[in-house]
Amino acid sequence: MTGFTLYRLRTAGTAAAIHRAGSGKGMTATVTTGAVQSSGKPDDAALRFPDGFVWGSATAAYQIEGAAHEDGRGPSIWDTFSRTPGRVHAGHTGDVACDHYHRYAEDVALMADLGLRSYRYSVSWPRIQPDGTGPVNPRGLDFYDRLTDELIGRGIDPVVTLYHWDLPQTLQDRGGWPARETAEAFAEYAQIVYARLGDRVRTWTTLNEPWCSAYLGYGSGRHAPGLTDPAAVFRSVHHLLLGHGLAARALRAAGARTVSITLNPASVTALDPENPADREAARIVDGLHNRIFLDPLLRGAYPADMREHMDRFIDLSIIRDGDEAVINAPIDLLGINFYTPTYAYAQPGRPALPDSPGTEGIGFRAPVGPVTDMNWQIEPAALSRLLERIHRDYDGVPMMITENGAAYPDGPGPDGRIRDTERIDYLDQHLRACHDALSRGVDLRGYFVWSLMDNFEWAEGYAKRFGIVHVDYTSQQRVAKDSARWYQDVIRRNGLTERSRAEG
Ligand code: FCB
Repeated sequence: MTGFTLYRLRTAGTAAAIHRAGSGKGMTATVTTGAVQSSGKPDDAALRFPDGFVWGSATAAYQIEGAAHEDGRGPSIWDTFSRTPGRVHAGHTGDVACDHYHRYAEDVALMADLGLRSYRYSVSWPRIQPDGTGPVNPRGLDFYDRLTDELIGRGIDPVVTLYHWDLPQTLQDRGGWPARETAEAFAEYAQIVYARLGDRVRTWTTLNEPWCSAYLGYGSGRHAPGLTDPAAVFRSVHHLLLGHGLAARALRAAGARTVSITLNPASVTALDPENPADREAARIVDGLHNRIFLDPLLRGAYPADMREHMDRFIDLSIIRDGDEAVINAPIDLLGINFYTPTYAYAQPGRPALPDSPGTEGIGFRAPVGPVTDMNWQIEPAALSRLLERIHRDYDGVPMMITENGAAYPDGPGPDGRIRDTERIDYLDQHLRACHDALSRGVDLRGYFVWSLMDNFEWAEGYAKRFGIVHVDYTSQQRVAKDSARWYQDVIRRNGLTERSRAEG
């Protein structure tokens, strides 16, 4: 998501409307060191979520695991990229990260203490197949086996993402996502992981944010593998989607109950909705960010305007007969990662953004008003708009927020407590936005906060802290921030109180 920085901003006065449910009985949560004291009973929330709503947190392998050279793991494109001077903030790498590979039991205990019902983790492909194809590394599978058992033993439902950006380097050397072979290799890898964990894992997500893999990895070069080739962007889009479809089909055939993909759809708004040129700019950005993925996934064909757009950069014959039908494999759930809105407008003469080939003449409004430490505009209402739009345009597809959260430069105070009140406000407002969408009929099944703990934030290294749990990277000590205790209370109540925001 780091490529968005330029055009993420804030408009004033857009806080989500609050819909109250239940008794409306006011309840105050008193935040004290390390714990929220409350009279919290499951039914005393002023704003309730549906029964069975899934509350979780998310992480990704390369961002937390460390143990980069252990137990037969092969190198990924992020190992290579982070070692390339100038690519990642201060030369940080994921070599050690949060050392979760060794500390997973402690981390799962922490999740259980927080009352998480579900945990979204990703599997590192190069741990399973060090060369991307061929021989399987049993020790890699053993790790996810142990992690899964630990979660289930604590009553936490695992949600597995098969690809969160750490492509085996050997596959990149053979062409990476611009090559069709990578899609085929991905389906093979998906089956290997399913064969080991499928008896215990119910929810399977193929890809995390293919937009980032294609546009940041091969367009702006902000992410691994760091290339800047517009043709590679669109070849990657197609092969990522094809890989998803092949894997989804294989997972289903093997017996997977819930198959999904996670996108980071943009809530795109024309800066001046009355201005046809701004509306046209928004159409293109919406196409490149949203419809190019959502249409083939959920309607079985690329939109005509995006086919024309791709035709400027690639030979469309890479989209073979039958590919779109494969991509259109039924999914049970669409994962949505949301952080910040997008405003587009016509700006004649402006060159295209490198991460969005073909956006010549389009401007992206810079942040206005409150932003997070990523310089991402905070606009919760944009999340409800986005959910409602996808619900409306894509047949009421069931959705899950698989990531939402905020980076702030927080750290322990003299008493050791981490008073991350801004994060609590961010989460509170976005949950209200989710509730808004629910109250308008959107089929939203759950919410995963990004992230369980501070971690390696890609090109930003360890400089940006997204966790509800603080990590001291020297001692590897974890400390629940106030937001973690606040979230614990939200989960316990299955909702928000009238005043469940930061009060500490
Ligand atoms: C998303 C990524 C996740 C994290 C957050 C902040 O784009 O999926 O790994 O970096 O942004």
